[in-house]
Amino acid sequence: MIIKKIIINLFGNKFFLILKKIKNYDYRFQFIKFFISNLYQLNLFFLYKFKFKSKYPFINNKYFCTKKIELEPSFKDQVNKDLKLKNYLFSKKFSLNHLIWNYPLKYLEEVQMSWGFDRKFYISFLEKNFDKDLKDFYQGKNYRVEHVWLYRNLPNSLNVNNNYHTDGDLPGAIKIIIYISDVDINSGPFSIVNNVTNEVEHILGNSGTTIFFDQKKLQHSGLPNKNKDRTVLSFLVYPSLRKKVNVSNQKPLNALCSLNPFTNYS
Ligand SMILES: [Fe+2]
Repeated sequence: MIIKKIIINLFGNKFFLILKKIKNYDYRFQFIKFFISNLYQLNLFFLYKFKFKSKYPFINNKYFCTKKIELEPSFKDQVNKDLKLKNYLFSKKFSLNHLIWNYPLKYLEEVQMSWGFDRKFYISFLEKNFDKDLKDFYQGKNYRVEHVWLYRNLPNSLNVNNNYHTDGDLPGAIKIIIYISDVDINSGPFSIVNNVTNEVEHILGNSGTTIFFDQKKLQHSGLPNKNKDRTVLSFLVYPSLRKKVNVSNQKPLNALCSLNPFTNYS
């Protein structure tokens, strides 16, 4: 209280209010995010021939599409092994490498989230199956995988992401969701509001069903799981100026993205 009075007397109430705001983590986060977001915009500016407003990524007018691939039994075995790993890595609030956000720890209570697996294995899988699709969305440009998530939603669980929303990722982002298990209406399917028809659509499909979406534009949610579980592999990618991108072994769970959009590390 004494310090508060001294500050107000010396510098005025306005200055004190600014200090109070800066002390608030979310406020600082939004400020840093705004700055980093401009760097990501600059990345698009260089990628797309110095255009100020890039329309990429461009999936289609609906902002999403689906594809189906066959998953090898050995791949599913590896997923089931990796689902047991819970080597959660959290970064301190300030990192020189990543934008660190207030990760909702409640999510880990609701979802069997795996962490600490071999990221290279899953990134190679993504490249092997979808390299051309991703490059098409980015008009032939390269990309880097910012995040790989592997998780299982359990039966009779509410999904914390069950309200329709768009994500606060940075310019250029695309998300990919691959169903590892068969998903019907009882398994908490991914659900979207179709941008063209304005109707709600639930994405049902067997194992190997893959959804690409522009999460900053498409209203989406995960429905609550009824009597079945759902296992999902998901990726967050950004376009990259780099020809060759190296895969980092580990990433903090609370990293929203790399601070440097020009990085050659994924
Ligand atoms: Fe989301």
